[in-house]
Amino acid sequence: MALEIALGAAALLAAVPRLRRRLQLSRAKHPSLAGHSRLAKRVARLVPGYSYGENEFFGIDGAPVEVQARRRHGFELLSRHLHETAPETLALTAQTREGLSDLQLTGRYRVPFQFSEHARSKLPIGAFWQSASGVQLQDLDGNLYYELTGSHGVNVLGVDFYKSCMEEGAILGSALGPVLGGYHPCVAEVVERLCKISGQDEVSFHMSGTEAVMQAVRLARYHSGRKHLVRFTGAYHGWWEDVQPGPGNPLPPRETYTLRDMDERALQILRTRQDIACVLVNPLQALHPNRNAPGDSTLVDGSRSAGFDRAAYTGWLQRLRQVCSERGIVLIFDEVFVGFRLARGGAQEYFGVQADLVTYGKTLGGGLPVGVVCGKAELMRRFKPGRPADLCFARGTFNAHPYVMGSMLAFLRRLDAAEIDSIYQGLDQRWVAHAQRFNQALREAGLPVRIDAMSSIWTVSYSQPSRYHWMLQYYLREQGLALSWVGTGRFIFSLNYSDQDMDEVMRRFVGACCRMQADGWWWSSPDLTLQSIRRGLLREMLQRRLGLA
Ligand SMILES: Cc1ncc(COP(=O)(O)O)c(C=O)c1O
Repeated sequence: MALEIALGAAALLAAVPRLRRRLQLSRAKHPSLAGHSRLAKRVARLVPGYSYGENEFFGIDGAPVEVQARRRHGFELLSRHLHETAPETLALTAQTREGLSDLQLTGRYRVPFQFSEHARSKLPIGAFWQSASGVQLQDLDGNLYYELTGSHGVNVLGVDFYKSCMEEGAILGSALGPVLGGYHPCVAEVVERLCKISGQDEVSFHMSGTEAVMQAVRLARYHSGRKHLVRFTGAYHGWWEDVQPGPGNPLPPRETYTLRDMDERALQILRTRQDIACVLVNPLQALHPNRNAPGDSTLVDGSRSAGFDRAAYTGWLQRLRQVCSERGIVLIFDEVFVGFRLARGGAQEYFGVQADLVTYGKTLGGGLPVGVVCGKAELMRRFKPGRPADLCFARGTFNAHPYVMGSMLAFLRRLDAAEIDSIYQGLDQRWVAHAQRFNQALREAGLPVRIDAMSSIWTVSYSQPSRYHWMLQYYLREQGLALSWVGTGRFIFSLNYSDQDMDEVMRRFVGACCRMQADGWWWSSPDLTLQSIRRGLLREMLQRRLGLA
């Protein structure tokens, strides 16, 4: 008996450090669903699918009948405008949707799902463009729109800039055509320039940002002999399993820790655990730490918020750098989005912190698809001289395609040109000033809308609760402003926007907000609070789930 008690006590004692570590890990997770991938997946599976009928569509917030009538009228006018101005664009979109799964997804998730069916049928958004120049796009019906989509972030320096890079790349690569395996001679200069601009020793080429991230993580695991990667809550690093452990990925999280961003508790985990190979940082998160990328489909109550504090984020990266160095953890900056946008030398230069590995993509291909890893020689090596059978394999048929390499070289060479240099000079101040002017105009017009900016990447926040903020994307479209499928969650400007262009975009933006306000979508009442909206939504979902509605 005494022996059993002693054994039990010993087992308990042995378990204490494990329990403590587990508790520490729990505390280092952000309390939101975004911080708990497993739970978020479970909750996502429980959400029932349903759509609002017409009455609910216009009055789900309890607005008076008169306000609902204004909404209906405004909605009708918008619907007519969208249909009448772009018939060819819409016809081709409808025709193609059936066979193009991506179009079905993006079309469905533009707005909160309860509103999606009605909005889709009455407020169609065309998915085709026939041309682009300056800062504008033209649809198949000849309508011009200011380009705020940034082509997923690729378009940093203006579409004409990329057209000329692509042309130069095609001319350079054309003598080789599709020859792969061996390299076009331009690769030598590309490698040299990339090492210089990234401050790293070596380079590897891939076909997308996702692949570059996969390779960086694989290298970190290979050299450290550890399994786990750390990502911060809400950060996007492409669609590969390990970096997308929550909803959207059918597999459960594996060797991934999702920790609180900008939080001492996360550093404590890095200091104490032995199994962490690398930390992935997407500096875009500085605009909305610990939150998922903002999209209008999640704008269910109006509680989107953001805010960029460069000094605070710089301090955070410095502390992270120090802990990673002390613990032999590979610090990876994922600059696929922000590379070459915040500064010529990317986030490393902008925040003054050097990473061990850096991933690039998007804009670096000069308009063609690419992913790149730059890093320290000892981390980039894919073999161990002392253990010849222990490789870190990474290849890819289309890596270093001659046209892509040519276009990338054109991109990198142009970064040295005086006119590009002048774009980067005073970049931050210029874009902060643009955002401030927008905010002043919005304040003066008495609109419940605010811009939060991280240089040329903007997001729209709303200063009052509402079920209808997402409607703004359609008013913006009507005013000739083209957004991506995440709507007002993200505007990505190219850096060739002139002051005059920005004045015009501001005029249209404020005009769209005024129209939306006049049409009654921002009706408010003391009873309409974030809590009451959330409670109502929960009740509604429970009723549908239990078959009571
Ligand atoms: C920070 C970051 N990493 C990785 C990726 C994935 O890149 P790709 O879409 O080229 O695979 C993205 C794409 O948006 C990104 O923003």
